[in-house]
Amino acid sequence: KQRERELMLEAHELTAKLYNYLLLNTEFGRAAKQYLASRGITDKLIEQFRIGFAPDRWDTLVTFLTRRECDMALMEKGGLVSAKNDGSGYVDRFRDRIMFPLWDRDGKVVAFAGRVLGEGQPKYLNSPETPLFNKSGSLYHFHAAKSNMRKSGQAVLCEGYMDVIQAWSAGVEEAVATMGTALTEQHAAILRRNASEVLICYDGDRAGQAAALKAMPILEKARLGTRVAVLPKGQDPDDFIRQNGPERFRQEIIGHPVSAVKFKLIYSRNSHTMVEEEGRMRYVKDAVRLIAELDSPIEREFYLKELSAEFGMSLETLKQDCHRMHMQMQ
Ligand code: UTP
Ligand code: MN
Ligand code: MN
Ligand code: MN
Ligand code: MN
Repeated sequence: KQRERELMLEAHELTAKLYNYLLLNTEFGRAAKQYLASRGITDKLIEQFRIGFAPDRWDTLVTFLTRRECDMALMEKGGLVSAKNDGSGYVDRFRDRIMFPLWDRDGKVVAFAGRVLGEGQPKYLNSPETPLFNKSGSLYHFHAAKSNMRKSGQAVLCEGYMDVIQAWSAGVEEAVATMGTALTEQHAAILRRNASEVLICYDGDRAGQAAALKAMPILEKARLGTRVAVLPKGQDPDDFIRQNGPERFRQEIIGHPVSAVKFKLIYSRNSHTMVEEEGRMRYVKDAVRLIAELDSPIEREFYLKELSAEFGMSLETLKQDCHRMHMQMQ
């Protein structure tokens, strides 16, 4: 088992080198290099993130690994190649894709994600779950972000690969990504060991905001301070940085997060139709319930005052209701 692990790790390291070489130094990588350049991925970023390219052929990696006397059944178990249906051998798993190595906590390559150039399904093809890799316990680029998290006490949590890469290039070097899956308790535990605060920086679309809302109780349960960096509608960190530059990303997005409760209030507000009396009332009730969850009486009063001003309701009424709910939650 230990020997198998070592061999699989070796094969992943070799594969990362091969794909990176093919991207940078061969004709195969030409279109991929152009695509990356069009997305603002510089040579320096290609190097830092060890980005590569898997050519549009069935046997590039199979031939390469066979020459290095790798056991193909083991390589299949590692998710690098796929067995042919008729049992007559193996084919490359990743073809015609830009390749992102995924690392374990020690910085060893344990899996890959491959992106199509432009449009296509699936957009990202990931390695399957293997003895080396489980997605629900992995955060993209954690091995490199870890020391920066420890320095700043804060982790920046993004959705995707490009977000982490552009955040890094914008000087936000404590960014990691859940790689499109829901945040798990395992993820939260890893973050808790290296930071006391998490800044959620998910995509500014409905899916991203819903995912942020779902991540909050998991982070809070792990006793992580949680805030949200809200992106403009329809933009993700990568989009924002490329449109507005690193400076504005650091200042306006990372530098001006909202508190967890504020985010929940905004989310609830957006879920109700404010033009109708009924919707407004439901929002006020929901808001009081959210505020009641706060432990600090000062914080509760702060948000209740905002609410009372906004809806022209007496602070006393809101306070009474809030206090009652707060007591019920104890
Ligand atoms: P997104 O759909 O937000 O993609 O998924 P993205 O990161 O903005 O990708 P680009 O900018 O178009 O290249 C967020 C993350 O979800 C995972 C990936 O980790 C992606 O970065 N995902 C998404 C997959 O694993 N497979 C997919 O097909 C799509
Ligand atoms: Mn998204
Ligand atoms: Mn995105
Ligand atoms: Mn994107
Ligand atoms: Mn300010």
